[in-house]
Amino acid sequence: MPKRLAGKVAIVTGASRGIGRAISIALAKEGATVALAARALEKLKETAKQVTEAGGGAAIIVTDLAKEESIKNLIKVTGDTFGRLNILINNAGVTHSARLEETATADWDRCHQVNARAPFILCREALPLLKKAEAAYIINIASVVGVKGYPLQSAYTASKHALRGMTISLAEELKGSGIRVHLLCPGGVDTELVQEVRPDIKKEDLMQPDEIAELVIYLVTHKGNAVMDELHIRRAASSPWFY
Ligand SMILES: NC(=O)c1ccc[n+]([C@@H]2O[C@H](COP(=O)([O-])OP(=O)(O)OC[C@H]3O[C@@H](n4cnc5c(N)ncnc54)[C@H](OP(=O)(O)O)[C@@H]3O)[C@@H](O)[C@H]2O)c1
Repeated sequence: MPKRLAGKVAIVTGASRGIGRAISIALAKEGATVALAARALEKLKETAKQVTEAGGGAAIIVTDLAKEESIKNLIKVTGDTFGRLNILINNAGVTHSARLEETATADWDRCHQVNARAPFILCREALPLLKKAEAAYIINIASVVGVKGYPLQSAYTASKHALRGMTISLAEELKGSGIRVHLLCPGGVDTELVQEVRPDIKKEDLMQPDEIAELVIYLVTHKGNAVMDELHIRRAASSPWFY
């Protein structure tokens, strides 16, 4: 059976570990070629190895999402190398845990730069390529904190609310264009990031990165008219509708 994403090109930010690595490998299993973006070269090489073993193509593009020129370079190199782009996954994220009165302006700025500003620049720079594709997808990974608030997470929460707002506006602008825009809002997933923000959650109660990757694959392979704009994904141990 032909792979469902054969011939498709995807960019995954934050591909060096965690959810981004899992999404990259899942896309590769469906035959996609994945441009892997993050700062840590050695970890990107490990992702590239696993992507190749899974049957996909891999291109490592070392990128610092805090820097506009580096973000523009990611899109330029992808375009120059492959001549096309079908899927943009804005996954990379950083967090900060502190009471608001102990949050430095630099920590606020860092969260907003990586979690909200970088996806905005990436969407803007990628749109000319995405518009050329027959069907294209932008998937932004927000968080449960993108729709509610938690104590000690004001900078992270505000940045994810900003990402959600931008995503809704962009989805409206692209309605009928052939580019579908989705937002994923997971609760606790077993990665390095959750250890910083929610060390109170037992490891066995966390979701696995593969579970988030499976939902991404559903969104980018579904061919019908049913669309889920925003997915809220909670841990089985948490309260229903509470996240
Ligand atoms: N884990 C959870 O419980 C959870 C829940 C809800 C939402 N999320 C969201 O899911 C996404 C992935 O998180 P994760 O849990 O997989 O976190 P993670 O394991 O900490 O991975 C974060 C990724 O972001 C990349 N990154 C951070 N700063 C960057 C920068 N300046 N430039 C380029 N890449 C950068 C990191 O790569 P380098 O360090 O190599 O640059 C890494 O690949 C994030 O947006 C996060 O907010 C996570």
